[in-house]
Amino acid sequence: MQNEKLLVLDFGGQYNQLIARRIRECSVYCEVHPYNMSIEEIIKYNPKGIIFTGGPNSVFEKGSPLVDKKVFDLNIPILGICYGCQVIAYLNDGKVKHAITSEYGKINVSIKKDSKLFKDVSVNTIVWMSHTDYVSSVPKNYKITALTENCPVASYENEKKKIYAVQFHPEVMHTVEGMKMLSNFVYNVCGCNGDWKINNFVKTTIDSLKEKIGNGKVLCALSGGVDSSVAAVLLSKAIGKQLTCVFVDHGLLRKNEGDEVEAIFGEKGRYKLNFVRINAAERFYEKLAGVTEPEEKRKIIGSEFIKVFEEEAKKIGAVDFLVQGTIYPDVIESGLGKSATIKSHHNVGGLPSVVNFKEIIEPLRLLFKDEVRKVGSELGLPETLVYRQPFPGPGLGVRIVGDITLEKVKILQEADFIFREEIRKAELDKKCNISQYFAVLTNMRSVGVMGDFRTYDYAIALRAVETSDFMTADWVRIPYETLDIISRRIVNEVNGVNRVLYDCTSKPPATIEFE
Ligand code: XMP
Repeated sequence: MQNEKLLVLDFGGQYNQLIARRIRECSVYCEVHPYNMSIEEIIKYNPKGIIFTGGPNSVFEKGSPLVDKKVFDLNIPILGICYGCQVIAYLNDGKVKHAITSEYGKINVSIKKDSKLFKDVSVNTIVWMSHTDYVSSVPKNYKITALTENCPVASYENEKKKIYAVQFHPEVMHTVEGMKMLSNFVYNVCGCNGDWKINNFVKTTIDSLKEKIGNGKVLCALSGGVDSSVAAVLLSKAIGKQLTCVFVDHGLLRKNEGDEVEAIFGEKGRYKLNFVRINAAERFYEKLAGVTEPEEKRKIIGSEFIKVFEEEAKKIGAVDFLVQGTIYPDVIESGLGKSATIKSHHNVGGLPSVVNFKEIIEPLRLLFKDEVRKVGSELGLPETLVYRQPFPGPGLGVRIVGDITLEKVKILQEADFIFREEIRKAELDKKCNISQYFAVLTNMRSVGVMGDFRTYDYAIALRAVETSDFMTADWVRIPYETLDIISRRIVNEVNGVNRVLYDCTSKPPATIEFE
């Protein structure tokens, strides 16, 4: 990797990955590393600048995350954000205090002094604040550059040492001129040129894949999701027919989805790769018969998937490389350790143990999701695939509450299809900023009346959420008129459904999927 790089040191805040994504949007490559990365490692990484993120701690609490003070003498520009801003003050003999009330939300900040960080930023500008502790006096040789009504030090700096600190969050959209500030840091302070461009990435990745693989044989598990599709196309551009993609249709895909994947990647598609589709629905339904517990269902689907893939891999024989669609968020190690497992995700993680291969290749390992999509567009993948919403590995298996049967899968596929069609028709995915939307077959049946007859049929739940990171999500206020159209169509067109419910729960406390 020859690009110029920034380093984001992670103090455990919720916007850490967002900071890194914003820097990359400025066309500069950066990585997120734990806050306690050693000075030697930092020097070796050779960043053009370092960003300290926010975090949940208080600098004066025992054991709170801090950095080695030597980082301030490396002559590398630093930007501290929120908790990171307090860390800089605390370690350089400034003062941090605990406020009686928190400052939270959109706040007007007044810029008081000329600063490279605020070039072309309005003197009064709206920023996003979320803090209780604050810097009450800045270290010697630092000057205050901005304040708010309640916060005496909204930003401060030592221009000579190129150390900058902001109490607010420039990375979130609510900070109106936040991107300008980050870009000022990257270009005016760190002196970057902006050499992180997706078309360069595509070209250099294809070249290096060619070189690495040579005449080797490569195997890829293709799900039809964005990551594995983009990985497969990158490889096909590099090595063509040396690549075999295996697509396991577990019978829990959305309506028509299996055929759509085949149309793109199969014999009649535009990519010259070997494509094998395995229709394994019956095997999965058999294994899942009568199973109702969500984690058990997930595990059965995951392990059956691996078995089916293993059988196919055996037919192909030894391969040199196995492709994994790992992306950067899967690689980042959190500064403050791992949190509890809520659901066991099915991400074909077990494949390496059952496939006979020499090495794993992960061509998307450095990319965030939005960058993967850009690579997909650059490679000419259809928009419908590149901008596809996330779909869980266990598929409709976690959208059918209770046990799974072919009949229930068919009902859900039809209802989900109508829901998605109407949302797209009304362009609500764009207008309401919907990140993910789908139907769920609740295991509940209720009494209804159709014509002159009593019905006793399933209730379908509709779910639509807006989120930037899928860790938290808000339910989307879909207009009643659209809900009305969807509900009527589902009840009229889908046999076995007589009631439609709308899920108005955020995450937390709910999760996005039902299981
Ligand atoms: P939850 O339900 O945990 O979902 O709020 C968060 C996001 O993850 C997706 N999801 C999965 N993705 N394998 C995946 O690759 C899985 O097993 C899986 N389960 C949930 C979910 O659709 C949402 O976008």
